[in-house]
Amino acid sequence: MPNRPNQTSTARGSKETPITGPEGLVGVFNTLADQHDQVAALFEQLESQPESRAILWPQIRRELVSHEHSEVRELYPVLRQFEETRALADHHDEEARALDALIARLDATDFQSDDWTDLFDELVETVTHHAKDEEEAKIFPTAQRVIGETRAVELDAKVLATKQKLMESH
Ligand SMILES: [Fe+2]
Ligand SMILES: [Fe+2]
Repeated sequence: MPNRPNQTSTARGSKETPITGPEGLVGVFNTLADQHDQVAALFEQLESQPESRAILWPQIRRELVSHEHSEVRELYPVLRQFEETRALADHHDEEARALDALIARLDATDFQSDDWTDLFDELVETVTHHAKDEEEAKIFPTAQRVIGETRAVELDAKVLATKQKLMESH
């Protein structure tokens, strides 16, 4: 009998079962990691098409703000309830506030200026570091172990619904 897991060749975030990322993330953690990949792709798109800033920036901004705020509202309060993940949640929310401040600075800067380019580079670096912290520095894997896979799957719909609402208002 074949012994291999029933993995398809589709990228992480496929809605086909099993909903398991390559790092073993499920439910909300897999969905959020998938959103990190989508933002990284948008970053690359903007970097390769500087003339499309005016179109791409609002899209990136909406993705980032809704992603981060849905995490802060729905996921990290759950993680704050557990001793093992409490400090991670506090650290996360500090970084999320720094990200908001950076986005506000970009909003206040002329698209055509070198300052905007410098700030955008800083944003890419900040977000990349933040996403790595969540995925690779073990926030998500630790959180998944602590809250359990069932809760991770349950939280998925809640976080997505909040993200959707935030997308509509940003
Ligand atoms: Fe985050
Ligand atoms: Fe995230």
